[in-house]
Amino acid sequence: MKVAVIGAAGGIGQALGLLLKLNLPAGSALSLYDIAPVTPGVAKDLSHIPTDVEVTGFAGEDCTPALEGADVVLISAGVARKPGMDRADLFNINAGIIKSLAQKVADVCPKALLGIITNPVNTTVPIAAEVLKKAGVYDPKRLFGVTTLDVIRAETFIAEAKGKSTQDIKVDVIGGHSGVTILPLLSQVEGVSFTDEEIASLTTRIQNAGTEVVEAKAGGGSATLSMGQAAARFGLSLIKGLQGEDVIECAYVQGSGDNAPFFAQPVKLGKDGVEAILDYGSISAFEQKALDDMLPTLQGDIEKGVEFGQAE
Ligand SMILES: NC(=O)c1ccc[n+]([C@@H]2O[C@H](COP(=O)([O-])OP(=O)(O)OC[C@H]3O[C@@H](n4cnc5c(N)ncnc54)[C@H](O)[C@@H]3O)[C@@H](O)[C@H]2O)c1
Repeated sequence: MKVAVIGAAGGIGQALGLLLKLNLPAGSALSLYDIAPVTPGVAKDLSHIPTDVEVTGFAGEDCTPALEGADVVLISAGVARKPGMDRADLFNINAGIIKSLAQKVADVCPKALLGIITNPVNTTVPIAAEVLKKAGVYDPKRLFGVTTLDVIRAETFIAEAKGKSTQDIKVDVIGGHSGVTILPLLSQVEGVSFTDEEIASLTTRIQNAGTEVVEAKAGGGSATLSMGQAAARFGLSLIKGLQGEDVIECAYVQGSGDNAPFFAQPVKLGKDGVEAILDYGSISAFEQKALDDMLPTLQGDIEKGVEFGQAE
C-alpha cells in the first residue's frame, strides 16, 4: 500500500506522517509532499524511525512523484484558522488549493481513495468532486471528507463527563464538519445516560471544540495533534478496507441525498472505498431538530463548493 500525505510539512501533516510511519502495515510506502522546502527533510527525519515503512519526501510546485501509484491520498494542504475566524473564512485560499490538487489526483492517481482534511470540509469535498467529474474520473465511493476528529472529540468528552474509559464509548457524528452542522448522536451512546442539559452542553462543546483549540493556541493555528491522530485513524481504516477487513467509520461522503448531497454518517469501508453507507438509526427529537436546523447551512456550503468547482 502507498499512502500520500499532501500538506505534509504542516502541523497536521507532520503528526500524521509520524503516526503513519509507526502504524502502516509493514511493507507500505509513505510519500510526503508539501510546497515547503523542508519536506524532504521531514521525510528523512521520519525515515530514521525503525519501522518497515519506506518514506519519501517531495517539495516544490509538482506533487506528481508523491502521487504516483498512491492507493490512498490524504490532503491537509492549506491554511488553518486563527482566533476570530470560522472555517468558512478559509474558503478563499483553500478552495483554489483543493481545486488544483484534485486535478493532480485526477491526472496521476485517479483510482486512489482521496481523504480531504483541508477546511472548510463541507465545501472542499464538493469542489474536489466537481474537478474529478470534469476529468471524467469521479467515483463517489472514493472521495471522503475526514470528520473523524469530531468523533474522537465526542468520545473523549463523553468519557470525561461520565467517568468512563474512552475505550468504552462509541458515538456516531453526522452532518458536516463545522459549527451547527456537526451533530453527535448522543441518544445512541450505549452504557451512559444524559440529562437534557448535558445533551445540550455536550453537543455545543463538540461543535465548538475546534474553536477551543484555536483560542488556546492564541494565533498559533488550529488542532494539529488530535487531527493528526484522527486522520491516521481514518487513513488506516481506509487501508484496512482496501485489504478486505470490515471497518466502519463516520465520514462526509456523497450519498442518497436525503438530507444533503454530501453528508457525514457511518460508512462501511471496503476494497473500493465506500462499500455501503449505513443508516444512522433512529434519533431523538433534539437531534432531529438540530438536523433540520443545520440543513440550510450544509446545503449552502455544498452549493458554494459545486459552483467553485464548476467554474473555469
Ligand atoms: N478536517 C478536520 O477535522 C480539520 C481539523 C483541523 C484542521 N483542519 C484543516 O487542515 C488544514 C491544515 O491545517 P494545519 O494546521 O496542518 O495547517 P499548517 O499551516 O500547519 O499546514 C498546512 C501546510 O499546507 C502546505 N500547503 C499550502 N499550500 C499547499 C499546496 N498547494 N500544496 C501542498 N502543500 C501546501 C503549507 O506549506 C503547510 O505546510 C487547514 O485547512 C485546517 O483548517 C481540518
